[in-house]
Amino acid sequence: MRKEIDEYLYEKIIPYREERREKDMDDRKAYGGVFDKRTLLAFYKLLKKGVIEEVEFPISTGKEGDVFRAIGKEGFLAVKVYRMSTINYKGLSRFIDGDDRFAHIHKTRDTIVLIWARKEFRNLSDYYRSNVNVPKPVAIWKNILVMEYIGDESIPAPLLKNVMEDVSKEVGYCIIEEMRKMMKAKLVHGDLSEYNILVWEEKPYIIDVAQAVPVDHPMADELLVRDIKNMVRVLNKMGIRIEERELVKELEVI
Ligand SMILES: Nc1ncnc2c1ncn2[C@@H]1O[C@H](COP(=O)(O)OP(=O)(O)O)[C@@H](O)[C@H]1O
Ligand SMILES: [Mg+2]
Repeated sequence: MRKEIDEYLYEKIIPYREERREKDMDDRKAYGGVFDKRTLLAFYKLLKKGVIEEVEFPISTGKEGDVFRAIGKEGFLAVKVYRMSTINYKGLSRFIDGDDRFAHIHKTRDTIVLIWARKEFRNLSDYYRSNVNVPKPVAIWKNILVMEYIGDESIPAPLLKNVMEDVSKEVGYCIIEEMRKMMKAKLVHGDLSEYNILVWEEKPYIIDVAQAVPVDHPMADELLVRDIKNMVRVLNKMGIRIEERELVKELEVI
């Protein structure tokens, strides 16, 4: 069994690391901690189940985790890997406590990242079901979340931040529509900005939803105000004149 796992890992995951090692020693450091043993085993499980067939390359590396492009049965996938080590227990707990969907979950320092990953999957699923334009959730296993990949063969979809001046106003109006749908889903995103919206074929995709909380959560109002302020700034930049109270009205926030 052990040998089999090793072979899998070498074939499907490690090659990309070896390649990077040759390219740049410094880059490699940035990935330290992502592929700890538990993460490798989680990858193994997803490969074995056939959810993922191959991990290609990182699309993004962040503080809390990395996102990779992978190949699945039906084409490309985006795979978000949460880092097990660099987490802030208290910080994350604030978004989990008070959420009825996680009321019976026992969290410890060891499991909080797994719960966090699960929370992102749950939020993604709830948004998806409410027709919000989010990447379609595919699978969750341990600290690895698999979802629809937004982009094509040669590039992943750009962040709104990088195309704000190039896209039509129509994209801005679509974003307001997505915000309305998020309210209908009764989940406040909580980190909405030009950094968490992708634009692909003139359509906005809302991403990074781990911190989203139900509208009756103690932090919901504070987060909603922040989201609205952020988005008014973004929409204004995109040439849409709208004020905070107008956006609130548009969203039918009660
Ligand atoms: N489904 C996806 N398809 C294509 N790119 C994605 C997808 N999800 C995330 N990304 C890319 O990965 C980056 C990081 O993802 P995000 O969920 O925002 O995590 P974080 O900001 O916590 O690192 C995004 O800015 C985006 O460039
Ligand atoms: Mg993000």
